Amino acid sequence: MCGIVAYTGSKSCQHLLLEGLKRLEYRGYDSAGIATIENGRIRVVKTVGRVANLEDKLEEVGGLRGTIGMCHTRWATHGGVTDPNAHPHTDDRAGICLIHNGIIENYAALKTYLQEKGHTFSSDTDTEVLAMLIGELYDGDLEAAVQAALREVTGAYGIVVMCEREPDTLVAARKGSPLMVGVGDGEFIIASDGSAIVSHTSQAFALEDYQVVKVTPTGFRTSTIHNVPVTPKVQQLEIELEEIELGGFSHFMQKEIFEQPKALANTFRGRIDAKEGKVVLGGVATLAKELIRARRTILLGQGTALHAAMIGEYMLEDLAKIGAVAEYASEFRYRNPIIEEGTVAIAVSQSGETADTLAALLEAKERGALALGVINVVGSTIARETDAGVYLRVGPEIGVASTKAFVGQVAVLTLLALWWARRRQMSADQCAEMLRHLETVPEKIERILAQDAQIRRVTEKYVERENWLFLGRGYNYPTALEGALKLKEISYIHAEGMPAAEMKHGPIALINDGMPAVFIANRGRQYDKVMSNIAEVKARGGHVIAVATEGDTQIAKHAHDVLYIPDIPEALSPMLAVVPLQLMAYHAAVLRGHDVDKPRNLAKSVTVE
Ligand code: F6R
Repeated sequence: MCGIVAYTGSKSCQHLLLEGLKRLEYRGYDSAGIATIENGRIRVVKTVGRVANLEDKLEEVGGLRGTIGMCHTRWATHGGVTDPNAHPHTDDRAGICLIHNGIIENYAALKTYLQEKGHTFSSDTDTEVLAMLIGELYDGDLEAAVQAALREVTGAYGIVVMCEREPDTLVAARKGSPLMVGVGDGEFIIASDGSAIVSHTSQAFALEDYQVVKVTPTGFRTSTIHNVPVTPKVQQLEIELEEIELGGFSHFMQKEIFEQPKALANTFRGRIDAKEGKVVLGGVATLAKELIRARRTILLGQGTALHAAMIGEYMLEDLAKIGAVAEYASEFRYRNPIIEEGTVAIAVSQSGETADTLAALLEAKERGALALGVINVVGSTIARETDAGVYLRVGPEIGVASTKAFVGQVAVLTLLALWWARRRQMSADQCAEMLRHLETVPEKIERILAQDAQIRRVTEKYVERENWLFLGRGYNYPTALEGALKLKEISYIHAEGMPAAEMKHGPIALINDGMPAVFIANRGRQYDKVMSNIAEVKARGGHVIAVATEGDTQIAKHAHDVLYIPDIPEALSPMLAVVPLQLMAYHAAVLRGHDVDKPRNLAKSVTVE
């Protein structure tokens, strides 16, 4: 949720920290702050608003000097969006300074304890409580104080701490919130994701839960919060700079929509053998026997990832003939679910850090399910908790509104369904045919992207309307949900997605003159039924925007506007049908003048409940 960058080395670090922070701004952006140790004293500058506001404030105060420092971009949980609540936080005695991602659940009890000891607080945050606690326990050894404090804490944290009395030392720790340590030559950079590290060094390691690292310019030491030494695995960061830069596009969301053909080609590389009718998934090979015997699957996700999971549910039943249900991870984890023998839980997540998805997967595992992951971020927490899995390989997704990860998730679930289907009942010929179609998806998405100007013109016609419906059936019911979610999260237009048949059970009352209703009306088993639903909307004055199959000569007579997608088997059509909906949402947000990559109230990865 929050972005963290910290540095210790020989360089003056303000500029370097801010540059890293800008790369992480998608993780949270309601306030930002920075601190360095300058001539033995901690100096903090923080402000509500974006990193750009912080830069202005730094200029006003003449900048910060120092070769050790930390900075943070916040997505508020405890305490409103105010300057005092922004990070870094300091203590009132020992010269401690701290930045934090996560939630300290027992902060209230700790605060009372610290107040009784005479500490005074200047913010409403749980983070300041942790800074004070470390200060209270500090006795000349920052690492020991951090370890001792974290033994008292329940909740989630990724923290970096520094102390005036040890002016070249950073101590960082993690439980539930990711932190990476970049290992440079005489310098270290700690960040909540690799994109803030890669321009300095490509060597890094990830902290595990309950681990603490102490770094100085000359080296590092890792241990647990109980001070048991551990040896981390320093690895090559697999991020290319061009993947995290705009490269001529106006927004990351736009770049990522246009990247989808290339991203999917990557997802498919080496995994499709269309000649033999075979899917090759190295990530699940070790569990092949157990998976083939599986009786039931539960797909878990939130938001866009859940929509992909719902398409996976349809595919697993339809293609692989294996029982499947997709569920909000947040509901699953608390509803005392029954896990029968032979159940496979599949976590679907771009970040691999979503708190609810992680907790639901652990719950399913605890109750005996085999855990699979359909994850983008390699080595993320959820990926590490799974028994096996298939990575999306779509590259870093920076736009807060998920686009290429959605098609990547659907693509991987398609591969998984076909992998299973082939081992259960699908013939090699049938599978080969599906795979041949699957391989055409990147080029077909390219053809849809070429209609961008027309999609923008259609969006312009309706962009002033405040209420939209998105309707689809079967495989494209989740696509309708995804279309509505994209529109609402970046353009703030109220949009509802639903199964087209559900409309008559109530929502039809909403339809008034000119209300935009987007129908996914591609050729498929329920095409005629969708056409009836279109007629019902039109009869009540609604304006129909149809996503239809190229060559459908009838649809233009029924819809006010038609956006065409190439023909493809129905099971694969969501990967195409979603593209015009992503572009409509993008254009609507731009036309309304919103900051597409930093929509209000949202942050990229939801690591708190
Ligand atoms: C919407 C969006 C969110 C995420 C959801 C799950 O555009 O991005 O709905 O899909 O927060 O995130 P991941 O996939 O990281 O688990």
